[in-house]
Amino acid sequence: MEGQARAYTNIALIKYWGKKDQVLMIPQNNSISLTLDAFYSETRVTFDSHLTTDQFILNDVLQDEKHGKKVFQFLDLMRQHAGITTKAQVISENHVPTAAGLASSASGMAALAGACAVALDLPQDAVSLSRFARRGSGSASRSIYGGFAEWQKGTDDTNSYAVSLKEDLSAWPLAMVFLLVDSQEKKISSRDGMQRTVDTSVFYPGWLATIEKDLTDMRQGIATNDFELVGQTMERNTMKMHATVLGAVPPFTYWQPDSLKAMQLVQEQRAQGLPCYFTMDAGPNVKVLLQQENLKAFLGAARKTFPEDKIVVAFPGKGIQLVKEFNHD
Ligand code: DP6
Repeated sequence: MEGQARAYTNIALIKYWGKKDQVLMIPQNNSISLTLDAFYSETRVTFDSHLTTDQFILNDVLQDEKHGKKVFQFLDLMRQHAGITTKAQVISENHVPTAAGLASSASGMAALAGACAVALDLPQDAVSLSRFARRGSGSASRSIYGGFAEWQKGTDDTNSYAVSLKEDLSAWPLAMVFLLVDSQEKKISSRDGMQRTVDTSVFYPGWLATIEKDLTDMRQGIATNDFELVGQTMERNTMKMHATVLGAVPPFTYWQPDSLKAMQLVQEQRAQGLPCYFTMDAGPNVKVLLQQENLKAFLGAARKTFPEDKIVVAFPGKGIQLVKEFNHD
């Protein structure tokens, strides 16, 4: 009753922002992401009848009830699927560049879902894994695939899952540069932030009214390797997401002064003829999409504004890897 998996994180180009069903994790809209190689989670789960409680060890630290909550809830769900009550030990490592301060629920929950599926002998095809991962964290549904993936919102547990849009990007070498911004303020999680927005934001109807156009443009951009179309669509989509939170009650923002500095850097570089576009998630870091041929020039400009240890370069990453057999040495 052991399983192990490695999953890479993904960044949404068209954001998942809002749930229709908070228990089943059915989103309000489809989302499209790029899986990256720089950040990944490795998780081993062991269901063991000798255990009296679930245990979750993250980066060598035993997690308490509060910090382990999402993992323990996920284990309950997997036990339900398998029809067992056996407790489990979860050992997980997040491989994130130092000082990144990046959340890793997408890679973490995808790896946990994969490890559980192996340990409990549950279905391990991509759709099943995506459906399992979705219940842990919505964005994790997309980390099953390498390259570009789309989470199709669906209407219920069976039809809400991600599919691959383009896995092999060897003909279209892309890069994503993370400009890391220190957060001074108390963080509002993506889960809480999106729910408050759905419930209260006067701008949320505008988000939903324009999402289909963003999705159509993004799909077309990806299908035709059209960097401008992908970049422009990504940037306007993130701006809209961040506009919705300003209209929430009470209002909030994920931006910090240095987030604006990073956005300005991208816009300036673009004005000077270097194609690059930004996106932001539920935090102050800015992620910049580029074609690899422009990476060196962009990094040269970025280093004038951001210290070296606040710049992380990532490339398109692989889909989930499951380990079925163990080497007990
Ligand atoms: C802004 O997947 O972390 O990164 O489903 O509640 O666990 P839960 O939320 P989560 O939200 C991600 C939000 C986002 C956009 C995205 O990744 O699509």
